[in-house]
Amino acid sequence: MRIDILTGFPGLFQGPLTESIIGRAVRNGKVEIHLHDLRDYTHDRHRTIDDTPYGGGAGMILKPEPIFECMDALFAERSYDEVILTTPAGLRYTQDEAKRLSLLNAVAIICGRYKGVDERVREALVTREISIGDYVLTGGELAGMVIIDTVVRLLPGVVGDGESILSDSFMENELDCGYYTRPAEYRGMKVPEVLLSGNHAEIARWRAAQSARRTLERRPDLFGERGKTT
Ligand code: ADE
Repeated sequence: MRIDILTGFPGLFQGPLTESIIGRAVRNGKVEIHLHDLRDYTHDRHRTIDDTPYGGGAGMILKPEPIFECMDALFAERSYDEVILTTPAGLRYTQDEAKRLSLLNAVAIICGRYKGVDERVREALVTREISIGDYVLTGGELAGMVIIDTVVRLLPGVVGDGESILSDSFMENELDCGYYTRPAEYRGMKVPEVLLSGNHAEIARWRAAQSARRTLERRPDLFGERGKTT
């Protein structure tokens, strides 16, 4: 899979793309991630990527030219399955969307900024607008990184133990149960007996019950999602 990121702040991605599981996936060639600095597609001395909105009002708008010119250069090399814009006005991001994106070959992510992006970018280039939640970030870079993180960890061979992905919270529209590791007793708190029993059928039943209870308590809305297709 190939992911291209269009941003005015490429430095924001340096840590998340080089550390831990995503860093290893990049180094091992499981995913190709390319950062494009929108300022490289400007033509003025100040390398301006934003401007005030027509009609007035507070906030700055990302200019269309750097985004269009960057996408021109990318489209000259390949086609894209999705051109995503990160924006609080987008569709709410879910694990199902992460699964869908993880099956694609090439995805471009335009990171929204400031007050917004010139509407012509959305009209002519963007195929999907995504919000990662009902809150407002200072910019779309963190949202872009959330999308990358959730998609890349689903790619084959990225997370070592395939099992651990299948049991993730949300993979079956249910929250994952809690887990314990050694020691069996810590500061007087004991690991539930069943987990030490070695009885795998019992353990599976216990975990399923824990998941169901946790989902009911914390996210009853997820039960309504059961059986919906991806
Ligand atoms: N940009 C600002 N807030 C955002 C959000 N919640 N999701 C995606 N992009 C954003």
